[in-house]
Order: sequence, then C-alpha cells, then structure tokens
Amino acid sequence: MPKAYIELHLHLDGAITPEIARMLADSQGILLPEDEKELERQLSVSEDCRSLNDFLQCFSLPLSLMQTAQAIEKAVYLVQENIRKDGVIYGEIRFAPQLHCQKGLTQEEAVQAALAGLSRSTLACNLILCCMRGEDTAEANAETLRLAVKYLTEDGGVVAIDLAGAEGLYPTRDYETLFRTAKEKGVPFTIHAGEADGSESVQSAVEFGAARIGHGVRVRQDEKLMNQLAQKHICLEMCPTSNYQTRAVEDMSQYPIREFLKRGLCVTVNTDDMAISRTNIQKEFAYLREFLGLTEVEEEQLMENAIQSAFTTQERKDELRKRCFV
Ligand code: ADE
Ligand code: ZN
Repeated sequence: MPKAYIELHLHLDGAITPEIARMLADSQGILLPEDEKELERQLSVSEDCRSLNDFLQCFSLPLSLMQTAQAIEKAVYLVQENIRKDGVIYGEIRFAPQLHCQKGLTQEEAVQAALAGLSRSTLACNLILCCMRGEDTAEANAETLRLAVKYLTEDGGVVAIDLAGAEGLYPTRDYETLFRTAKEKGVPFTIHAGEADGSESVQSAVEFGAARIGHGVRVRQDEKLMNQLAQKHICLEMCPTSNYQTRAVEDMSQYPIREFLKRGLCVTVNTDDMAISRTNIQKEFAYLREFLGLTEVEEEQLMENAIQSAFTTQERKDELRKRCFV
C-alpha cells in the first residue's frame, strides 16, 4: 500500500466540498442552503447522471463561489489542505481562468490569485491552466495560453495547460491551432480525450504533441493507438469514479486499467472532481484493489508512472520517489 499519493488530475471547481463552499460563501455574504444534505446534493453528481454533459452541469454552484481573487486564493489553499490530509505529497491542481471572470475579474487576476493560494500551503503543488471546449472560446483560450507562457515555471506555479469541457460536443481536432501555438511556445500540455469521445480524439491529442491524456479510457478499442501511447510513454490520467459517473465505461468490472498496465501504458490514478464525485485518492485506490484486484506491484507502478509524468523538475521527482518508496 503506498505511503503517499500523487494527484495529477484534479479540478479546483470539482474539489469544492460543502465545508469549503460554506467558508467561501460566508466570507462573501452568499447564501447557501442551510440543510447539509441539500447542499451536498447541490455540490455532487446525482445517481441519474448519464453522460459527461450531465456531469458538467454540477459546476455552476462551485464556480459561482470563486469569482473574486480572495475566494480563488482561499479555495486553492483549502483544496491543497484537504488533499494533504488525504496523504497526497504532490498535486497538480487545474482550473480554467476564463470561468472565473463572471464578476469582472480578468483571467490574469484569477491566475495570480490561484498562485497566491498555492504559496500559502506547504504541500508541493503546481497549477495547470485549462482552456475550454465550446462554441465561442477561441479568444479566451488564446488568453489562457498567453498567461501560461507568461507564468510558466518548472515547479511551484503554472506548469502546463489542458483542454476541458464537453468533448462529445466539441471535438479535439478543432483545437489544433491552440496546441500548435502551445508547442511553439514550449508550454507542456495534457488534453482531456477519450472520455466522452472515441479513440480518434486521443489520436488528435497525440498528434498535437500532448505529454499526457486526461482519461483516455476509450483507447481500448484501438490496438495501434495503445501501442503508440506505450511507445511514446504518454501518460493516461485515469479517474475511475468519474469515468463511471460520466458513463465513459458502462461496466466497471471491465475498467481497463490493469489491461493498460499489462500493455505497458503509462497509467496513473486520479480523482478528477473529488467533491462532485464524492471521492478522494484513497478511495480510488481502495476501489481498484477491492473490485479489480489491483496488486501491490501494480500500485507501485502507478505511483512510479505518476512521478515520471508529473509536470515538475527532476529534483522534485527524485524527492517524491524517496518519499513514496521508503
Ligand atoms: N471539467 C471538470 N471535470 C471534467 C471532466 N471529467 N471532463 C471534462 N471537463 C471537465
Ligand atoms: Zn478532468
């Protein structure tokens, strides 16, 4: 059993627990339901979630609480403290600055606030800036990328970009220009792909030059692509509970994580949206152990994969390896 955990795929807006929500709301004079159960219900996914599109409806309340610099800073700090208590020793928190501009904040102010929150915790953490899939996001995404270039660092700040949102509605191939520019500017990236769309989505992400893929569960149907991912050592950030809730996989007994490991794919385990999915990193590993028979050797491989794929320095990786495998 690992003594420590690493989180590479964790959304800030998906990690707002009822407790954090109350703290954010109280300091802004925002009213939330007094009933604890009702608040929990509003902040987590319901049993009848049928798709990623349904799942993405859950984010408006947490986002509405993070529209000021103070709230973003506080949220980043509190989420770090939560995961630190769960045994996480290194985390990458992702968020989309463009979703925090409802009350007049600029994307840059949102990024600066998140960086301020990051520096308040003792947990080793980095930020990934999410660009968003959507009808009209090109300009906002270009600004997110500009900020990633401006604030990019090897550790202790912004380390990469991502593409999040409704993959089933807005295909990955439409974001080629964005990622071509990211590549030219030397910004590392991960892309949510193979979650709500098929392996062709992952194929596009690989062609763009993604270092990592968010989810990627649907590559199972594609032998050639699986071989390519293994050979290029592209990390799959897998998130079991989330994948079940969004119906990225229908039958969890068929969840392909052990099969991927056997094929030599660089798989990692993550929570995605821990509050919305009512999970944490310990529960994800416990689930894999209990229901899929994940072995200790496989668990160690998952940790090693996370260390190798983290967007951080070699020094940090060496330190994490020591702490994970003592
Ligand atoms: N934003 C938050 N969670 C997400 C997910 N699982 N897929 C795409 N976008 C997201
Ligand atoms: Zn995600």
